[in-house]
Amino acid sequence: MKKIAVLPGDGIGPEIIAEAIKVLKALNLPLSMETAPVGGAAYDIAGHPLPPATLDLAKNADAILFGAVGDWKYDTLAREFRPEQAILGLRKHLALFANLRPAICYDELTEASSLKPEIIGGLNILIVRELNGDIYFGSPKGIRSAPDGLFAGAREGFDTMRYSEPEIERIAHVAFNAARKRGRKVCSVDKSNVLETSQLWREVMIRIAKEYSDIELSHMYVDNAAMQLVKAPKSFDVIVTGNLFGDILSDEAAMLTGSIGMLPSASLDKNNKGLYEPSHGSAPDIAGKGIANPLATILSAAMMLRYSLGMQAEADRIEAAVQTVLSQGWRTTDIMTAGKKQVSTVQMGDAVVKALI
Ligand code: IPM
Ligand code: MG
Repeated sequence: MKKIAVLPGDGIGPEIIAEAIKVLKALNLPLSMETAPVGGAAYDIAGHPLPPATLDLAKNADAILFGAVGDWKYDTLAREFRPEQAILGLRKHLALFANLRPAICYDELTEASSLKPEIIGGLNILIVRELNGDIYFGSPKGIRSAPDGLFAGAREGFDTMRYSEPEIERIAHVAFNAARKRGRKVCSVDKSNVLETSQLWREVMIRIAKEYSDIELSHMYVDNAAMQLVKAPKSFDVIVTGNLFGDILSDEAAMLTGSIGMLPSASLDKNNKGLYEPSHGSAPDIAGKGIANPLATILSAAMMLRYSLGMQAEADRIEAAVQTVLSQGWRTTDIMTAGKKQVSTVQMGDAVVKALI
């Protein structure tokens, strides 16, 4: 029996997680699932976005299925109590350093993209984002009185971008190994024309690439990468980058495909224990309306079976079922186009269950 910690979170989180669980249950797998509050929902109940009981459940599980966190109503809380701290805390406490964010454009959804079909059709790229370091976690950080410069004495906010060699090495290995199972190309994205952190990043990427002579390594500055992603996204295979650049580029890549509501993600530790969540957020504006697209979460459950639980065949079955419902024409509002059949969150989950073979 494998233990799954289910953390639905806020906004549309509970609605989309319910559909993913429905699909997992329909497969009759040896899984025990236990649910705990996280994010704003946990703050309301326990006074903290990542209460000790939720963290323990996640630590003791074989994998974590995560919905989304965040709601405007928590924006005025002190930072340590904001819902986002839950996901950042889980990533850090569980050493989930490798974030895999595929951006796949399904043939059936080519028209849902804002880009021309010839630019986007057949897109299949993978963003490997480092998740435990960078300016997200670097110390020192804070708000202080500026110690020097033209504005000495003024209030200033500051963060620290930093990466150590071992941190860069381990994410490099993840990217090169992922590329081996795909198109054998890795593009490392940095800002080494300006940042010391990026200069070390690039050096380490070049050194580790020598262990992977079958993989083609290229480098790109992040500003250019943002541009190339809309100009010629299919020229990429695997993109590897740091935490901050990866945050931004993965949203961009996701939107290329037409809907961020379609994209799953995995955040893995060194033993492939992982947290699985849709790439999109909690969408408080549509929460409770029953219209959210559950497919990213359902596909995240498939990634969980594949990467953490060794259940490849069942992962394939879920992914095939998603393909089937798309070709049958079922669409939630976010991916709706003329002539298709609009369905609710629950109806989409039901359609996937029915399409399982
Ligand atoms: C993401 C999100 C998070 C991040 C937020 C919610 C802290 O944007 O997973 O991409 O910045 O990493
Ligand atoms: Mg983000």
